[in-house]
Amino acid sequence: MTAKTESVTSVVPNDEGKEKFKKSDDVAFYRRQIQGPKLTHQVLLDTLVLTEGGARFELLQAVTKARLLLSLSAHKSDFVRILVDEVQPIKPRYRVPDVIVGEQRSEPLRVEEQTEDVVTLSWSSRCYRVRVWRIPFRLEILCDQNVLVTFNYEDKLRFESLQHPPSLSCEPPRCFLQLQEEQTGSWKETFKEFVDVKANGPSSVGADLRLHGFNHAFGLPEHADGLQLRETRGGEPYRLYNLDVFAYDLNSRLGLYGSVPLVLAHKADRTLGVFWLNASETYVHLEYSSTNLQEAPPVKRKRTPPYTDVHWLSESGVVDCTVLLGPGPRQIFKQYAELTGYQALPPLFALGYHQSRWNYRDEADVKAVDAGFDLHQIPYDVIWLDIEHTDGKKYFTWDPDLFPDPVGLQRHLQTKGRKMVVISDPHIKVDPFWSLYDDAKKGEHFIKDREGQVYQGSCWPGESSYLDFSSPRTRAWYSRRFSLKKYKGSTTSLFVWNDMNEPSVFDGPEQTMPKDAVHHGGWEHRDLHNLYGFYQHMATVEGLITRSGGAERPFVLSGSFFAGSQRFGAVWTGDNVATWEYLKISIPMILSLSLAGVAFCGADVGGFVQDPEPELLVRWYQAAALQPFFRGHSAKETKRREPWLFGEEVTAVIRSVIQQRYTLLPFWYTLFHHAHTCGLPPVRPLWVEFPIEESTFTVDDCYMIGGALLACPVTEPGIQEVQVSLPGPEEVWYDIHSRQVYGGGGTLRLPVTLESVPVFQRGGSVVCRSVGSGTCTADFQRLPLEITVALDSQGEAEGELYVDDGHSFCYRDRKAFSLRRFSMQAGCLLCRAASRGGSSHCGTMVQSVTILGVKKQPSSVTVYIPGEEDTPASFEYVESHSVLTVYNLKLRVTVDWEIHIC
Ligand code: GLC
Repeated sequence: MTAKTESVTSVVPNDEGKEKFKKSDDVAFYRRQIQGPKLTHQVLLDTLVLTEGGARFELLQAVTKARLLLSLSAHKSDFVRILVDEVQPIKPRYRVPDVIVGEQRSEPLRVEEQTEDVVTLSWSSRCYRVRVWRIPFRLEILCDQNVLVTFNYEDKLRFESLQHPPSLSCEPPRCFLQLQEEQTGSWKETFKEFVDVKANGPSSVGADLRLHGFNHAFGLPEHADGLQLRETRGGEPYRLYNLDVFAYDLNSRLGLYGSVPLVLAHKADRTLGVFWLNASETYVHLEYSSTNLQEAPPVKRKRTPPYTDVHWLSESGVVDCTVLLGPGPRQIFKQYAELTGYQALPPLFALGYHQSRWNYRDEADVKAVDAGFDLHQIPYDVIWLDIEHTDGKKYFTWDPDLFPDPVGLQRHLQTKGRKMVVISDPHIKVDPFWSLYDDAKKGEHFIKDREGQVYQGSCWPGESSYLDFSSPRTRAWYSRRFSLKKYKGSTTSLFVWNDMNEPSVFDGPEQTMPKDAVHHGGWEHRDLHNLYGFYQHMATVEGLITRSGGAERPFVLSGSFFAGSQRFGAVWTGDNVATWEYLKISIPMILSLSLAGVAFCGADVGGFVQDPEPELLVRWYQAAALQPFFRGHSAKETKRREPWLFGEEVTAVIRSVIQQRYTLLPFWYTLFHHAHTCGLPPVRPLWVEFPIEESTFTVDDCYMIGGALLACPVTEPGIQEVQVSLPGPEEVWYDIHSRQVYGGGGTLRLPVTLESVPVFQRGGSVVCRSVGSGTCTADFQRLPLEITVALDSQGEAEGELYVDDGHSFCYRDRKAFSLRRFSMQAGCLLCRAASRGGSSHCGTMVQSVTILGVKKQPSSVTVYIPGEEDTPASFEYVESHSVLTVYNLKLRVTVDWEIHIC
């Protein structure tokens, strides 16, 4: 039985069906790469050419005599790209398009020094150099005299040159060639009943890098595992192969829905990134010289500086490896965003709470749930419809009995400022009487099988064909389906969810598309498998933008993703389970995604499979309210779990959690502005904010929201006390609920109740919240603000607030936004325009300012507005907590003002 079919009777996850996924040993190219003989390469120095974009030279493989061409480029923002291809492949090899954004301007390189053994190349950078060793070939990136990274340190550069197919036509008994072929799986590979015929034969690539001095590595989503990447010596490597895995295993390195081939390594004085741009099935081995994840060896070893070895292996394509040089986490985020794009700025409503389930039955059900939120005074923004809303799982249609008036339904929600999201999967039901199918077929928009016929596989509607989103023509065709005219029953308040886009094929190998299926341009699915969801996401986003004439920001959630998917919208962590372990792992999963640029991410609240006990549901809401994408969702067989179905106590806690999320939206929105403009993820592992503090490097149950809030969600049952290690011996931390002050650098034992989640504001930061209540983000947007200034040990603090209309592209096209900066020093709080532009005015008022850490009772508080008379302000001082509240203010947030405390 497939674990995931419509006829699933039990929702209890079990191991049944798990064996449908491969282990690395089942994979022929992996075995060939790992088990093949050691190959050394030498640089052919006489081929070294300095080009406009960098330098290139040839490598000669000593035994096979294969020649490779290595192109090297260095970029102003401090990254170095290494590209290796065959000198003259018999046909072009796949190079991942559309992920790298813009024109990547590289610096001219010059030969700084050259001997028979080594060439040193430099560029405008003050400290960085590249050194190329001739025999054996090594490529080092240095900062001053220190080698940071060595490419091919372990001689694992392995490149299978494309060949013409051998003639295997001998009669039985099977000839040697046939036997050899079966073992190596070079031209054909069988897994269970699935035969993969490889049109290009062996085509895999692999390479290793040593990261000198590093002992902690992160990234490589998506895996259901801890934040720090584990040593893979003697075990399974990390697999990057997008798969639809129902109730996935925990603490596993097997592939899940999306892949971002980015490893970050961190030590106190430097962060590095290695980005391996390859969209075929990829494995990553990771070895630490010494590891804090293992017991110390009993025997004394010679102390060598630490290092991390990263070995990448991919089934096809070329080696395209970019080393991001930092030096700190902030620069790495920026460098990676320059390369693959910045996080899209979501419309404000998308940061509110989303209510979903598979499925809301009909229009009456949707209206009742919507009314339930109002009745119970719980704000929410979006209600979601899963596959059952369609007419027979035909996307872009509505079930005529259950949803006879979709426009009316959307208008009903819209009058309350709310939206609807519907699902649109990439598989198209084979139905010659359905015009969309017919159009797609006639227009040649489907992926073909290896024989050149339209590929058919099974998914929710039964027999289906799959749109070829890798084709720009198909993407444009698909985008047009979202026009209001074409998509009957849609309105401008309808947004989209792309699912099953790994792609999921119930009767395919590993429940996905056969690798020998053929895409636009004749490329095999194997070459671009991991890009499929990325491309659907791209096409849907385009569709929604075009629908509004380019005016409105889209919202699209995607199940599958790749590097660069952040440009399109949100992702979530798929079919998790309603257990405490899944709640716990959602935190490192979200942090890993955030580190890899995919910052708008979340997990199904409550767990998709099975029914959460009320305590788990509450704790899940509390955790998810502190994560970027906040959606409750559950499987078809689960019991209903709208927040008010578990008794008043539970309803009250969930209400307060969601309300707190809404009041914090000005802060979240500002963080998304930073992600959109600087590449900084809204949620961050502690080491990003405390880069020199080793004790933070492995923490993955607490994290920072921006630079200001430390969140420690409770992820265990029956907890009455939590232990929190507050980072930074120099820091001051304020409990946001009790206002209690703590010094950093120690471990705190904090009593907790079902209502409480430990969150601390860092001294030195400023956080803006909305004051009041409302039913959705549109309401909250109109509320005044309260500003919480948390003073550091010097009595200083600073922070920003970003405001715009919350939905359009006017912030981009007309600079219609405002970025305000608050800074407090020597008893004076200034509100000014931040230097990064934007000066639009909005009506948002500041109603109160709370200053934490004020040591003594002030005698007066005065407000200064340029051009106006100074006015004394009302204030209250609570000595026991050193809290000063200045209230009854009526200050526009987009004009300059000052508050002086004497
Ligand atoms: C997949 C999705 C899940 C969705 C279901 C039906 O399992 O992961 O979220 O509800 O398909 O569309």
